[in-house]
Parts: sequence; structure tokens; C-alpha cells
Amino acid sequence: MKVLVIGGGGREHALIWGLRRSSSVTEIVAAPGNGGMGGLARCLPVDVNHLEAMVNLVAIERPDLTIIGPEVPLALGLVNALEALGFRVFGPTMEAAQLESSKAFAKAFMQRHAIPTAEYALCTTLDQVREALPRFSVPVVVKASGLAAGKGVVICETHLDAERTAAEMFSGVLLGDVEAEVVLEEFLTGEEVSFFALCDGRHAVAIAAAQDHKRVGEGDTGPNTGGMGAYSTDGLLTPAMQQWILHNVAQKVVDGMTSEGTPFKGILFIGLMMSPRGPMVLEFNTRWGDPETEAIVLRLETDLLDLFHAAIDGTANELTIRLKPGASATVIAASGGYPSKYASGKAISGLETPSDDGVVIFHAGTAVKDGQLVTAGGRVLAVTAEADNLRDALDRIYARLKTISFEGMQYRRDIGHRALQYYADGE
Ligand code: AMP
Ligand code: GLY
Repeated sequence: MKVLVIGGGGREHALIWGLRRSSSVTEIVAAPGNGGMGGLARCLPVDVNHLEAMVNLVAIERPDLTIIGPEVPLALGLVNALEALGFRVFGPTMEAAQLESSKAFAKAFMQRHAIPTAEYALCTTLDQVREALPRFSVPVVVKASGLAAGKGVVICETHLDAERTAAEMFSGVLLGDVEAEVVLEEFLTGEEVSFFALCDGRHAVAIAAAQDHKRVGEGDTGPNTGGMGAYSTDGLLTPAMQQWILHNVAQKVVDGMTSEGTPFKGILFIGLMMSPRGPMVLEFNTRWGDPETEAIVLRLETDLLDLFHAAIDGTANELTIRLKPGASATVIAASGGYPSKYASGKAISGLETPSDDGVVIFHAGTAVKDGQLVTAGGRVLAVTAEADNLRDALDRIYARLKTISFEGMQYRRDIGHRALQYYADGE
């Protein structure tokens, strides 16, 4: 079977690594792929912001299955376009992907289907913001409705600050794009957990829980990034809590979307706040997380290809998704300066000799230039391991990181710190 994977980050490298372990996969094409995929996949250039270019590529390559990694192609309607041409494709349609691409849609959907989430107000003008604000205590959360690559959420300490932030979103100053809708939201406290469910339009089944570290600095400080590391352990959610989330969130999403005529097929990535009032949905993503996927794939015992087929065929309920017991983690080695301005093209050393420590290095932003592996993005490598417990997985990752270098390389030395503290305090 020939599989084509759209995307070129650590998530896609991890998915391709997982697919390579499936005996039915004979050929993988990655578009655009990255410098670390050679040997696993044939990489072809494509602009993932350009619908027609992606459709043309699939039409030429004629894969048996296309898997879409990033959110932008989903929001552009790549699944709709490929299905219309008769191709087999994994991911939600443009309509179903609105759960991620429009916070306004997601909030109203959750309200319609009684899915637990923070109180909110949807505003399309600054006057509406001023009118709604007195309903919210501070801090109050101001969110751009559209896809904003993690930069569209601002926690405001005063109403005046919230008004100013909303004004900046409406004017395009804050995000570079004029935001038509702004969501004001009640500020929630608690631990954040992500939960991944496989959905097939009828059923939602659990894959794994994970937690990522969005801030660039240790101790969860500094600006937001795409994610500086993540981990997945058995202890993140109890089996009872997983069941609760499956029943009260994931299955309600699947049932609700089907009843509204826009069935959801694909990965539902639920961002949750474990608040004093119970688990509350912070956001939905309609794809695998990055870097959560890197950590999860290492624990996955079920054939990854079976997951994709089950979601497409509506048979997810017949699938047993097995994870290796224990824990896995991934730590991102990023370019100096990221998430602000950073340089690319820096030679990477330390990856030449494979090690026998079980550490898997997924490439997030690399390229090969004149035979040399160089940096080609903000997040460069996702150094990943799985073990009986989180401490062992992290020790192996950090030992391996010491042997890797490129000019300006930065990484957080405290990935998993909350879980480690929790275990240290005694469960
Ligand atoms: P989102 O893109 O909606 O997940 O928001 C990004 C981050 O902002 C989340 O991971 C939270 O840390 C924070 N956040 C979002 N919404 C809220 C909220 N209602 N209360 C507190 N923190 C929030
Ligand atoms: N790690 C967060 C995301 O993939 O959006």
C-alpha cells in the first residue's frame, strides 16, 4: 500500500516512523517532508497553504491512502477535494474541522450539545466587547476565533486590557490578520491535559492522554510556542476519568457533528482544564498534536495503519488500541531565538552515529544542504524515548541531547516537571 503524508514536521516524521512498522505499507511519500525522512519516505515539495498544489500532487502520485498532518490543509478543505476525486483520505472535512478552525463555532457547538466548557461571549465589534465585559471577572481570556498558531489567546488582568487586546485583534495589529470574531472567556484554573480520541463519524475511542509544554522557558515562562516538549503516562488520567471524557466530550462531539450533518472523522485532540468544577474543554484540535504525537507514537502497539482505516471505514469500535504501559516523552531542540526571529541553515552534529539507547530522534525542521543536515525551522528536532517510567525516559532523552549540537540550540531541561513532582510527592 502506498501512503502519502501531507506535512513536514516532527508529527509527520513520527507518523511515518509508525507507518513504516506496518507490514502492509510498501511506499511512503511525504509532502513536503523534511531532512530526516530520507530512508523512510520519498519527499516531494508542496506548499501546505495551497489547496490546488496539494490536490495536484495527490492526483499525480495516486496513493492508496492520504494522511493529513497540519490544520491548515484541513481548514482549506483538502479532505473534501480529495474525496470528491475518489481518493481515500484520513482527516475531517472542512466543515468538521471548524471545531478547530473557528473558536466561535466550537463554543456554540459545545453549548448546543451541553459539553462542559468555560462561559463565553462572542463579539464581532468592540462595542459588543465593552457590553459583554462586565459579565466576566478578571483575569478574563480574550481569544481570536480563527487559526492563530497558538498566538491567539491572551489572558488579561483588567477589563481595560481586555478591551485593548480585542481592539488589536479586530484591527489586525496583534496577529497580522484582521480578526472578524473575538471570544471573551471565563478564566479557568487547574491542570491542563490533552486527550486524543479516534473518531469515525459514529464512535469515539481513546488513544492516549498527553501533556505538552507550550511556553519557551523553563518553569512554563516566556512566550508561547508550538510546543517545547510533551509526555504521555498511564497516570495522567485515571481510567475512570478517561471514560468520563470519552462519554461526556468525545462521544458527544461525534454524535453532535453527525446530527448536524457534518460527521467528524479523524483525530479529536481535546485540550482540557481539570478545573475545580470538573474537566472543561479549552479547545478542540482536529488533528494529531505536535509534539504530543511524537511521544504517543512510541507507546502505540496497535498498527497505526489500522487506526486510519478504522476511522475512514466507521469501525473504530472494533479496534483495540493498545499502548505500552509506562511512559514516553519528547523534548524539542529549537533554534536560538525561537519563537521570535531565528536563523536557519545551521549545521547539526551528533546524529551521524545511531545510538543503542532506544532514543528516537524525529526531525521537526531540518533540511539537507550540500550533503549536510542543517536546521530549517524554529523547532528542529524532537528527541523522544519510551520507558517503564517517565524519569527513565527523560534521563535517556537528556543524555542523548548532550551529544547533539547546532549553533544556538536551546531546549527546556524541565519537560515533565509537574508529573515528576507528583510522583516524587507520592501518588
Ligand atoms: P487554546 O488555544 O484555546 O488552547 O489556549 C491556549 C492556552 O491558553 C491554553 O493551553 C491555556 O493554557 C490557556 N487558556 C485558554 N483558555 C483558557 C481559559 N478559559 N482559562 C485559562 N486559561 C486558558
Ligand atoms: N501541541 C499543541 C498542538 O499541536 O497544537
